[in-house]
Amino acid sequence: MESELNFHRARALLEWQIDLGATEAIGETPINRYKLSDTAPKPKASTPTAEATAPVAAPQVDPVTVAGDMVRSVETLEQLRAALEEFEHCELKKGARNLVFSDGIAGARVMVIGEAPGRDEDMQGKPFVGRAGKLLDAMFEAIGFGRADTESPIYITNILPWRPPQNRDPKPDEIAMMMPFVEKHIELAAPDLLVLMGNVSCQAILGQKGITKLRGRWVEALGKPVMPMFHPAYLLRNPSAKRDAWHDLLMLQAKLKET
Ligand code: URA
Repeated sequence: MESELNFHRARALLEWQIDLGATEAIGETPINRYKLSDTAPKPKASTPTAEATAPVAAPQVDPVTVAGDMVRSVETLEQLRAALEEFEHCELKKGARNLVFSDGIAGARVMVIGEAPGRDEDMQGKPFVGRAGKLLDAMFEAIGFGRADTESPIYITNILPWRPPQNRDPKPDEIAMMMPFVEKHIELAAPDLLVLMGNVSCQAILGQKGITKLRGRWVEALGKPVMPMFHPAYLLRNPSAKRDAWHDLLMLQAKLKET
């Protein structure tokens, strides 16, 4: 009687389990399901895993794209300066005292583009105010132009607005991320022509180096006539090259008279 009851009871229990979906046969060897990763219990929130505490990689940004996006809506030189103040992707900014934006008179027919600020420029926040700057002023005065000359002004800026440490050469990636700002600067200052001082600005604007070959001839970039010249700092070290610089200044003067 008891075994009959057991039979019916056991059968009823089995049917009930099948109804619940327990249809898998039990294996010969036991399985520790806590060791299976997909069935392991989730750790409590208060005990973060190594994965959770690992530093999360910052999303990759391309500084050139960021710079391009920033200048797109810029309409004035003040806005351009503000955009540079906000740009956080150039390491040079961290070591610089000041942003060196420009000097002279915006709207001048001549826009002079140098390399990067040195010590004096970094201290004063103005381009070309050291020894090389004094020579640059003397060069332009010799053909009747000056940064404070309201009749025949020039406008001055650099490719990099922050001083590189120990006046080292600008790196290609630093130049590349500044180019959207430089191009916008030229567009807004709207000069008739550009004077590029030295190799760095020639490389940045013309994509060419070799100032000894480039100087003394008009080329075109960004829709404007461009005169590459020896950098005044080079002229201070190589005074015999001043003769070539004088030739280039006379070409500049003639061009300004004819246009
Ligand atoms: N040299 C440059 O190219 N720019 C400056 O502003 C000063 C020195």
